[in-house]
Amino acid sequence: MIQRPWQRSPEDRDIRAELEAGLMAEHAAISPKYLYDPLGSKLFEAICLLPEYYPTRTEAAIFAQHADDIAAVVGTGVTLIDLGAGNCAKAARLFPILKPRQYVPIDISADFLREAVAGLRQAFPGIPMHEVAMDFSAALDLPATVQRDRRLFFYPGSSLGNFDAQQALAFLRRMRHALQIGEAGGILLGLDLVKDADVLDAAYDDELGVTAAFNLNLLNHVNRLLGADFNTRDWRHAGFYNAARQRVEMHLEARRDLVVHWDDGCRAFSRGERIHTENSYKFRQQDILDLLEQAGFGEVRMWCDAQRWFAVCHARVRANV
Ligand code: AVI
Repeated sequence: MIQRPWQRSPEDRDIRAELEAGLMAEHAAISPKYLYDPLGSKLFEAICLLPEYYPTRTEAAIFAQHADDIAAVVGTGVTLIDLGAGNCAKAARLFPILKPRQYVPIDISADFLREAVAGLRQAFPGIPMHEVAMDFSAALDLPATVQRDRRLFFYPGSSLGNFDAQQALAFLRRMRHALQIGEAGGILLGLDLVKDADVLDAAYDDELGVTAAFNLNLLNHVNRLLGADFNTRDWRHAGFYNAARQRVEMHLEARRDLVVHWDDGCRAFSRGERIHTENSYKFRQQDILDLLEQAGFGEVRMWCDAQRWFAVCHARVRANV
């Protein structure tokens, strides 16, 4: 159904304004949060199963190998706040060791989240669950129903790497504020480490083309949100490591000269011109310690795999901040 401008909610208007600004910029860009519509969330699940995409299984192996130590550091009975919960599988694996007193999965993809939590409630009837569908990238305003004490922000999968350094710092500080209103809070992060470019290139441009589909699907999502006429066949996926900036970049590249139209605008793209869709920053261990220090966290503990490809970190709010 076509929506008239006056029928749009303020939220829809914000989304349209953000998308239009990105498309009209000299170097066109669309936020990676638009990768996650219902199909995008499924494609991301498939990415996590790919042989080339090492972060998911490496992180899971770290949690499995160091489960007792992690449980001893984090403690039990936490309010487990799962940021970007997706299918909630990673947090669910921690339930037996952390025994949360409340589980709060948060995700931008509302339908996907609702479905995932419905299944989880049946599997863990003893854990109160309170799902929150929101875009937490701009603000972390938690509902009053979220317990204040012993909050643990769980942010696995190196999702922090999808922010640039300033955004990551601001986001960590927002977590710190949300922890300071209660007692003994902490964060548990999964962060991807710098490694050979070949490994990174393969992880973000896999042989089967699942990452390509994930990236291209963003255009279908934008078509629905903006009433645009992107044709995915006109675009190709580019995913590669930019060593100078310590990040993997994803772009969509025009296969020919073309014009994209939407309800009240248009943009011409030349063949080879790109839309930047995601950055995935990779960290050195010292980068992580510096970032956490700047954000007001201390008592940092870090667990890595043998190859030092991925790190899981726990930190607490520093008392004197
Ligand atoms: C969700 N995020 C941490 C993933 C990453 O690795 O940056 C998203 C992703 N993009 C391409 N593959 C996976």
